[in-house]
Amino acid sequence: LKFVCYSNDGVDEHMNIFARQLPNMPKEYIVRLVMDRSHKSVMVIRRNHVVGGITYRPYVSQKFGEIAFCAITADEQVKGYGTRLMNHLKQHARDVDGLTHFLTYADNNAVGYFIKQGFTKEIHLEKDRWQGYIKDYDGGILMECKIDPKLPYID
Ligand code: ACO
Repeated sequence: LKFVCYSNDGVDEHMNIFARQLPNMPKEYIVRLVMDRSHKSVMVIRRNHVVGGITYRPYVSQKFGEIAFCAITADEQVKGYGTRLMNHLKQHARDVDGLTHFLTYADNNAVGYFIKQGFTKEIHLEKDRWQGYIKDYDGGILMECKIDPKLPYID
């Protein structure tokens, strides 16, 4: 099992996973953000195949990241990959991007997963740190996660 982070990879395997698992997101929008240089993707790779990924935009000056897409391929869900992926993302975002928080618009059916990853519906981050940076999106619930400054998220 491997975890990799790319800023612009051209791998379309995880775009297909996003497109299948996030049917409300237009495919062109997924492709645009994944290929966009201001976004990064962390992916779980097993035996040369992408099992899932998270695409996010680090706002380095504001020290927070916005998770745009998060998905695990259908037959590998609820086996713990999503949790390990999120832990890799937190470690990378803290140690490489210097972020302290994540924000995401979670789909209703994924709120339980995000709560288990330490996200809350209460937003503690001061509004002037994120307002105007992330777009309002009415298809989901805004959730926040504080990244621990010291915790080792991966071994
Ligand atoms: N609702 C409630 N709880 C969930 C869900 C869910 N949809 N998915 C997983 N969980 C729980 C698991 O039961 C598990 O609980 P436990 O620790 O008590 O056993 C915990 O969350 C972690 O589960 P993992 O196995 O690590 O999660 P998984 O590998 O399945 O990844 C994910 C979760 C990404 C939501 C995956 O199921 C998926 O791709 N779903 C479809 C697409 C989706 O909804 N993506 C998120 C959309 S929102 C966004 O992208 C910003």
